[in-house]
Amino acid sequence: MPIPIIFDTDPGVDDAQAIAIALAHPDIELLGLTTTFGNVTVDIATHNALLLAELAGQSIPVAQGAAGPLVKRKNPPPGHIHGDNGLGNIELPEFTSQALTQSAPEFIVEQVNARPGEIVLVAVGPLGNLAAALQLDPTLVDKVKRVVVMGGSIREGGNVTPVAEANIFNDPHAAAKVLQAGWPLTLVGLDATHRCVLDPASMERIVAAQGGLGKILGESYTFYRAFYHRALGIDGCCPHDSCALVWLLRPDLFTTERGYLSVVTEGLAEGQTVMAPERREFVDSRWSQGVPADVCMNADGAAVVEWMVETLTANPVL
Ligand code: BDR
Ligand code: CA
Repeated sequence: MPIPIIFDTDPGVDDAQAIAIALAHPDIELLGLTTTFGNVTVDIATHNALLLAELAGQSIPVAQGAAGPLVKRKNPPPGHIHGDNGLGNIELPEFTSQALTQSAPEFIVEQVNARPGEIVLVAVGPLGNLAAALQLDPTLVDKVKRVVVMGGSIREGGNVTPVAEANIFNDPHAAAKVLQAGWPLTLVGLDATHRCVLDPASMERIVAAQGGLGKILGESYTFYRAFYHRALGIDGCCPHDSCALVWLLRPDLFTTERGYLSVVTEGLAEGQTVMAPERREFVDSRWSQGVPADVCMNADGAAVVEWMVETLTANPVL
């Protein structure tokens, strides 16, 4: 049976790659896309989500969500990484589908309550929609099958500050609520995603196998790859958001540790994620509150990327 998921996203070049996987993989039942600000404004995120689903020839509900962080001032979208349109500033085709009138948190609450114990929430942007859904219905904690978050960094260091990963930094207060809610949670952060590089030859295989969607993925990849070359000196990009889906279907490709998660919400280390390993004792118990999560600390990068390429070459969407 395919796993029913709701994919919470801010597309975003690597989000687009992940959406393509969610649309293509036969073992995933994509119930809907919920959108948030982050890589782009929430309006652009919704536009891109609608476009990508329509290009794949699928009628996937899209519900718009958070326009900004819960508490802090919103950072400007990173146009130098994803392009001002979120897809590498390439020209985008017209489309006709429209977002739901229901908000992202309302959609999440309704879907999870309709199928208690079944749905996995996969969140690959700032976490305001999940935090708002929890506020609307705290019983979600016991009704989701699991929450998989692409975000954070434990030992790898940050990508937007020396210690913070972008999704957590963009809304640390929401992240604190989501990472400490006590639901079954897996964190797929930079400790794993920085081990994975989607190289140009792999991208060419994807483009060759896919139609209009592949064209968008390939062209936007060119812009994103240039950023990675400048920032990390690598030839390719880290397909962060797709890694969350790879973990869902191939957890054996990751090394995980169990630990209690905290988020620094203020000050110089704002957005830092801290993991207190399960069963370690510290000077007091403040880092070890709540329920431990599964935290990805490493990945078999080559195998993860090959899984992504195989998924997108073996399952062409339109
Ligand atoms: C995360 O931040 C965004 O730029 C990417 O889409 C990904 O979700 C990586 O830090
Ligand atoms: Ca993202």
